[in-house]
Amino acid sequence: MSSPKMLIARNRNFGPPDVVSVEEAPIPIPKRGQMLVRIHAATVSTGDCRLRSKNVPRGFGFMMGLMFGFKNPKYESLGTNLAGEVVTLGDGVRQFQSKDRVVSNLGMKLGGHAQYRILDENSLTAQIPNEVSYDHATALVFGGVAALQFLRDKLKLKAGERLLVIGAGGAVGSSAIQLGLIMGAQVTGVCSTKKVSAVHDLGLQDVIDYKKQSWLTGTDQYDVILDTVGTLDFEKMKHKLKANGRLGLVIADLPTILKSLWISLTQSQKVYAGPINENKSDLKFLLNLCQQKKFRPLIGTTLPFEKIVEAHKIVDSGHKLGSLVLRIITLQPSLD
Ligand SMILES: NC(=O)c1ccc[n+]([C@@H]2O[C@H](COP(=O)([O-])OP(=O)(O)OC[C@H]3O[C@@H](n4cnc5c(N)ncnc54)[C@H](OP(=O)(O)O)[C@@H]3O)[C@@H](O)[C@H]2O)c1
Repeated sequence: MSSPKMLIARNRNFGPPDVVSVEEAPIPIPKRGQMLVRIHAATVSTGDCRLRSKNVPRGFGFMMGLMFGFKNPKYESLGTNLAGEVVTLGDGVRQFQSKDRVVSNLGMKLGGHAQYRILDENSLTAQIPNEVSYDHATALVFGGVAALQFLRDKLKLKAGERLLVIGAGGAVGSSAIQLGLIMGAQVTGVCSTKKVSAVHDLGLQDVIDYKKQSWLTGTDQYDVILDTVGTLDFEKMKHKLKANGRLGLVIADLPTILKSLWISLTQSQKVYAGPINENKSDLKFLLNLCQQKKFRPLIGTTLPFEKIVEAHKIVDSGHKLGSLVLRIITLQPSLD
């Protein structure tokens, strides 16, 4: 008897969006301590597109090659997060039950771009509150966790401080403006004209449209600047930071990260960069905020799974609005 099949998005080569195609594969069977999840939604994130195209910041190519393959991808499928429903439990699973609605931060383990995925019971997976949709649950992971860790842990943003978020309409930026407001900061966002109204809708009044006005001019200074775009270096923006201001570089190459350490050691202004430390409590924290309607992950585009190549093209543009969600459940599941 042939095993039941699912659809999975694969890229057998690194390259442009059309290296991705949707194929059939056997539905995996959970082992002890694992569960099988039927995926309802997942995002195509900037992280997915960097891995697909090997467009990683300078200095990280060798490490990424070791992790994800030098010539061909080692991973089964991309997808740094997923939201879905537990369908089968392996022996010994205690924290989850069949039919639980769950969201998982897969991070560099990947695998969200498929109809089903096995999750370890102890992975970064949490139950989704009833009030939160699968789309919102998966959309809060990539940008939300990065924004939270930069503002709270690296930059130590305090109530009353002035925060400037560059790239305010992106996945990380749209999360950062909301978290900044929740933390009691006076927030200003920078985005292009077509994103201004979406940023206003997230509760932010003070928005600089960079197509009309440069945020580098004027006399305003900030306690904290969060740069999610990575186009300018410290020297070009340091006049916008107060004397003891902090700059967070969400995206930075290795030379810039090393330079940041030197700047922070030798100057009153500090620069923080580097990877984030993904954990379950941040995922639960964001879900809780979302349940209380204090935080709303911004979803700019929703596409069915079969449009995954189009999804990669939109993310590759570097100008997407918020998160891009793939609706995976629209394709008929093959289990049941
Ligand atoms: N350090 C980490 O661990 C970590 C974690 C997550 C993400 N990241 C990185 O963080 C970066 C941002 O991720 P994301 O998912 O938020 O990307 P995204 O959704 O594509 O957002 C980037 C935003 O920047 C805006 N933008 C582009 N050029 C701009 C410019 N010159 N000035 C101001 N805004 C500009 C874009 O729209 P408009 O131009 O239309 O306004 C877009 O909304 C990515 O490079 C990602 O790889 C790093």
